[in-house]
Amino acid sequence: RTVYVNGSYVPEPEAQISIFDRGFLFGDSIYEVSAVIGGNLIDNDLHLDRLERSLRELDIPMPVSRDDIVAMQKTLIARNEIDEGLVYLQVTRGSEDRNFDYSDTLKPNLVAFTQKKKLQNTAAHKDGIKVALVDDIRWDRRDIKTTMLLAQVQAKRQAKASGCIEAWMVQDGFITEGASSTVFIITQDGKIVTRPNSRVTLPGCTRLAVLRAAAAHDLQIEERLFTADEAYLAREAFLTSASSFVTPVVEIAGHRIGDGKPGPITRRVQQIYLELAL
Ligand code: PDD
Repeated sequence: RTVYVNGSYVPEPEAQISIFDRGFLFGDSIYEVSAVIGGNLIDNDLHLDRLERSLRELDIPMPVSRDDIVAMQKTLIARNEIDEGLVYLQVTRGSEDRNFDYSDTLKPNLVAFTQKKKLQNTAAHKDGIKVALVDDIRWDRRDIKTTMLLAQVQAKRQAKASGCIEAWMVQDGFITEGASSTVFIITQDGKIVTRPNSRVTLPGCTRLAVLRAAAAHDLQIEERLFTADEAYLAREAFLTSASSFVTPVVEIAGHRIGDGKPGPITRRVQQIYLELAL
């Protein structure tokens, strides 16, 4: 597979990054994941907006122009013949001798690779998935998409231990988000509820696209906090991310949601999201 490192396209075994890279040493780096369907990038403008925002918040310069990033993503998709899958981008603050503080002139590193992956009509999309609940132990700037993902790695392991592939994280009784997804519930009276964006969660690109699609189709939306107890009583639930689109959730921490099958509003959201995104 061909990967990208700081301006070069190289076979994966030849790709090199310094052991003094600050992403490696300090988690001083940010990333984005965009989906590819039929060779086309999905919601990529939203992902690049968020990439620029993450860099701004951490005072890391854009390594190359936005147009150059898009051209690079497209080159990787073509070279690796990605019909359906993901493009991963990571920008680190750069490499220099280890020191918590960094030089103002440090040049960022940009790496990228593709992954082939079936994203549409998966078993999870058809049947829904079970999610576990775990404590949200992350720092309080979760709106920045950093590669400091140890809490999420642990959350996924905990989820796996109870037969789930995703964990929903809980802080002060309220659900924040999934380990790698945004969470939604549908109330008994048919409203789609999701948490408002804040420093406590990552502002999901798929979330934004879903909210736009839902508004365009006159579905009722409520942006507010909700507890785990409210989620157990929901009529339906689903989660969103670039790598899973709209995935029904049929069980939360052992509590069956609705009749344990993906519900009609979730099905509608899956359909209208894809209509808008493709
Ligand atoms: N994760 N919340 C968290 C903590 C995430 O890591 C992600 C995405 C999302 C959903 O955001 P979006 O819709 O923009 O993908 C929410 C990516 C897919 C990942 O880490 O692989």
